[in-house]
Amino acid sequence: MSEDTPTGFSRRNFIKGVVAAGAVASSSAYLFRSTLLHGQPVAGGVERLITLNVNGQDRRVDVMPQETLAMVLRYKLGLTGTKIGCDRAECGACTVLVDDVPHYSCSYLAHRARGKKIVTIEGLADPATGKLSAVQQGVVEEQGFQCAFCMPGFVMAATGYLKTNPNPTRQELAHGVSGNLCRCQDYDKILTALMRGAELMRG
Ligand code: FES
Ligand code: FES
Repeated sequence: MSEDTPTGFSRRNFIKGVVAAGAVASSSAYLFRSTLLHGQPVAGGVERLITLNVNGQDRRVDVMPQETLAMVLRYKLGLTGTKIGCDRAECGACTVLVDDVPHYSCSYLAHRARGKKIVTIEGLADPATGKLSAVQQGVVEEQGFQCAFCMPGFVMAATGYLKTNPNPTRQELAHGVSGNLCRCQDYDKILTALMRGAELMRG
């Protein structure tokens, strides 16, 4: 059976066309994502190779303008301690510190974090000794979580809150981490663990 159609359009030509179109699409995508064209800045271009300071280290990473900090931390830097629960600023599982302030990293563009100090759950322990932070130690001692999916977010939120109020009442600390949700819903135990962390932090 001939590959040629009555119009002279062959299967071979069709495949050639697809491959060519793909190549055109790829090269135009490459041009649009680049900030330089023939050595000159492209209007509207955004630099993709950026430096993020994460857990005290400068990390070079290729980031699209629309990528969130949570996605970059987890899938480009391998810091999977930061969890993604809702991915829309509702649950707090993705909480990290940016310049010591807790933020939902699922709703924070990675480009916006340039020049800031990002701390994730992996960055809380002492890098030299591996000693856990006070809040982490409180969680270990009180066994405050069930499945612990929400735990990194709570620990980061509490760590950030305790920087502003190191000696909170139980109610104040509950308010301080009220942007975080737990699907297992043992908030009382979580709070006991975080209060223990606050106590350890004060020494
Ligand atoms: S994953 Fe970011 S707030 Fe839920
Ligand atoms: S302990 Fe399971 S989601 Fe919080």
